[in-house]
Amino acid sequence: MRILSGIQPSGLPHLGNYFGYIKPNVDFQATADVTLMIADLHALTTVQNPDELRENRQQVSLDLLACGFDTEKGTLFFQSYVPEHSELMWILSTVSPMGLLERAVSYKEKVEKGIAASVGLFAYPVLQTADILLYQADTVPVGKDQKQHLEMARDIAIKFNNTFGETFVVPAAKIQDDVAVVPGIDGQKMSKSYGNTIPLFAPDAVIKKAIMGIVTDSKGMNDPKDPETCVIYQIHKLFLNDAERKALAAEYKKGMPYGEAKKRLLEAFMNYFAPMRKRRMDFEKNINFVEKTMVNGGKKASLVAAKTMEKVRLVTGLR
Ligand code: ADP
Ligand code: TRP
Repeated sequence: MRILSGIQPSGLPHLGNYFGYIKPNVDFQATADVTLMIADLHALTTVQNPDELRENRQQVSLDLLACGFDTEKGTLFFQSYVPEHSELMWILSTVSPMGLLERAVSYKEKVEKGIAASVGLFAYPVLQTADILLYQADTVPVGKDQKQHLEMARDIAIKFNNTFGETFVVPAAKIQDDVAVVPGIDGQKMSKSYGNTIPLFAPDAVIKKAIMGIVTDSKGMNDPKDPETCVIYQIHKLFLNDAERKALAAEYKKGMPYGEAKKRLLEAFMNYFAPMRKRRMDFEKNINFVEKTMVNGGKKASLVAAKTMEKVRLVTGLR
């Protein structure tokens, strides 16, 4: 299995990002060749402040390293360090039907939200296709929101192969239905845009405040609680194995007060993330090392990308 996945550099990662995206990709490293790309070129469609882009991008690299992504085994890089992404995007754009892109839901949603309708925003899925095809990835783990982009990537790969001969592996999406949507502290899906997150790497006091602020119903202190509808439990169970989940659920049913339940969740959170929080601080103090790691990641990615591009230039007649 050859996995490629991308993440746009935006904001502090939270528990939803961790269980929905970061952990699965780190876990895939046990059995697959994983290439993780920080999509700074994609981010330019929405972030046009250079300091902010540089800062965000570096923060995401620190997050992924701290959470255990192994750069010896896999590849972690900034998209813009590998110029082949832009080159392949142009070539792919010449076989990408306008009608296909015009049906993109995410483009319409972004424009409705007030993001400028640039050519880059419109062609975003073509760049995403280039990201995937450059590494001949067969598997792309994404959330449901990316399903349509992955279908476009398949369509464009097939169109290219039909036009110029078998060149690309046609990628398959691995939609992470099985990864439950992590609820936020207000009970909706946890998301930066809803301001309801528990950030992984914020100061202790911020995390404590978020966890203590989780919504609960108005059951009395010692009344039995229903773990299935309780947001505290739904978050806490992410840290537990089956037996531990059962034991905790039993305590809710026996009437553990919500205050106690939150204290336990805070403890579980801190225990689980302590090594990662420590590693992140160490990386922060050693930013030169992180920068070097990212330059090396770019070089490693380039080796694969250059090989694919050689093939593409030949089959298209550019060489
Ligand atoms: P946000 O909604 O906070 O802006 P992004 O859209 O940047 O998050 O998502 C980055 C990755 O994290 C995606 O792969 C997405 O599927 C995953 N993710 C985000 N929020 C959650 C959540 N609440 N539960 C599970 N996965 C999530
Ligand atoms: N568009 C993806 C998102 O917003 C990020 C992304 C860019 C990506 N290139 C990719 C995801 C390639 C998977 C494969 O989440």
